[in-house]
Amino acid sequence: MIMDTFRIVVVCTILMPGCILTCQVRENEELTKDWWQTAQFYQIYPRSFMDSNGDGIGDLNGITSKLEYLNEIGVTAAWLSPIFKSPMFDFGYDISSFYDIQDEYGTIDDFKKLIAKANRLGLKIILDFVPNHASTESKWFKKSVKREKNYEDFFVWHDGYENPNGGNRLPPSNWLQAFRGSAWEWNAERKQFYLHQYTVQQADLNYRNPLVVEEMKRVLRFWLEIGVAGFRIDAVPMLFEALPDINGRYLDEPPSGITNDPENSDYLKHLYTQDQPETLDMVYQWRTVMDDFQRIHGGDTRVLLIETYSPASFTMKIYGNRTTKGAHLPFNFNLITMLNKGFSATDLSRSISSWWDNMPPGQTANWVIGNHDKRRASSRYGEDLIDTMNMLVMMLPGASITYQGEELGMPDGIISWEDSVDPAACNSNKEIFEEFTRDPARTPFQWSDAQNAGFSTAAKTWLPIAAGYETINVEAEKNTPTSHLNIYKALVRERKNRKLLQFGDLKFKAINEKVFLLERSFTTGEKLILIANVGNQPSIINVDEFDSTFRGNVKTLILNLKSTKTEGTVLPARNLQLSAYEALVIERA
Ligand code: GLC
Repeated sequence: MIMDTFRIVVVCTILMPGCILTCQVRENEELTKDWWQTAQFYQIYPRSFMDSNGDGIGDLNGITSKLEYLNEIGVTAAWLSPIFKSPMFDFGYDISSFYDIQDEYGTIDDFKKLIAKANRLGLKIILDFVPNHASTESKWFKKSVKREKNYEDFFVWHDGYENPNGGNRLPPSNWLQAFRGSAWEWNAERKQFYLHQYTVQQADLNYRNPLVVEEMKRVLRFWLEIGVAGFRIDAVPMLFEALPDINGRYLDEPPSGITNDPENSDYLKHLYTQDQPETLDMVYQWRTVMDDFQRIHGGDTRVLLIETYSPASFTMKIYGNRTTKGAHLPFNFNLITMLNKGFSATDLSRSISSWWDNMPPGQTANWVIGNHDKRRASSRYGEDLIDTMNMLVMMLPGASITYQGEELGMPDGIISWEDSVDPAACNSNKEIFEEFTRDPARTPFQWSDAQNAGFSTAAKTWLPIAAGYETINVEAEKNTPTSHLNIYKALVRERKNRKLLQFGDLKFKAINEKVFLLERSFTTGEKLILIANVGNQPSIINVDEFDSTFRGNVKTLILNLKSTKTEGTVLPARNLQLSAYEALVIERA
């Protein structure tokens, strides 16, 4: 196995008024990294990628038919949101059989064909592993309800408390589920409450039961044997809950002060239901499953990508510690969570350093701007900034992650209350659902200007197609030299061709409230600078004040759609004029 052997010698952060300058100096650079360390990951939401059988729902054969497209845009590995058997209360995140494929997505043979074709094309496939919960329609839950041998404690059960006022028993604690309301549900047959940190149909597995731990490792090995290159692991911070006290009582969580809405999960500070220390050990055990599998079966490293929105103090431990390896990449969501519409260059700089400066030595960074749970990047930051964000993701060191459609600048779909299907929306009401809904980011992928954007031949698709698909689609953007897609492809080309972007050092700075500069430099003296005006006003900058070796002239390499310059133009490094939202990748002339 090839490992990153960079040794970090100095990490410094210099705070100056209105800007942050961060640099890392490294020695002993060895020009070898394992595949995932410079990989371009691409998230596919199978339900919305490509429908091969005209039922309005994306499927595996649809994905297989489009793998060439992934090759074309340089993807190394695609991770697929869940494709397993599910009653679809949470669109596949409520799994009723972890070993079977959902009928509407295809069969296990379809999946094997997908893997075989991906392998022929040099693409890796990663599956979504959902360890925290299983569907209440799963065999496991049904057996647990009946207290069948080996399944009695498969889930988190509790008697709750007698109601002093009479009537229904009271839940064991005040814990809230992610999609509004109590995290406890009474089961009339077993006469106990079960825990569900997500919908009522997603019962939390009990990780304090070794049988659960073993079964879930079996799930991992089952899919590894079919040929997957690793897993994205869902909702990891929720795996364990704090143990009850000596009286068998789960402790109530205190109010967070964030919201006054007592049904909203943010109402509580999740002291006992998230980020428990046992969770880290579980991730480390899964890493061992990956490494053991590789040692026994050979082949490339099988990777773990971890979903967590936890604070850095917890997230960075997911990478592992001095003695134990953890996940390859805990997702870095800071570009999502720390940037609101209208963000400043300083905000951007802070968001980048919040990962880069906290990352333990020797680990690999990664950069994410969207996923199926958040509003689409193009709508969240504004379409004017989508190329800039793609430039950042592709130019920052480490792994890049793209959610399907970001390369096209696909916007959110507008989904009415009547058309809403996401439980996060449907569990709320007509007045507030837009605050919670995830449907807008899940509308079908836009392939062309044909019926249903070329996604499906059905009369109706499971979610409506987003407005503007006639021009925002793969076919149209391929044929327009200056398009989000072609800018994305140009970035990928540079990333693949230049050792600088794979191994080079990083320096970045907000030179004022609106202009952000990022430089990659290499021992050969090669350098690239990204200049991003994130503001809606023109600006004039001196590039040589950021890097004195950029004296004289600079040459433009890649431009965003807001730029009025042309590619390959030579410009002065001093008094360089930028238009509103302009972003340029430049080199020395
Ligand atoms: C993760 C998924 C989300 C799902 C939840 C429960 O956050 O990304 O879509 O609803 O876990 O599985």
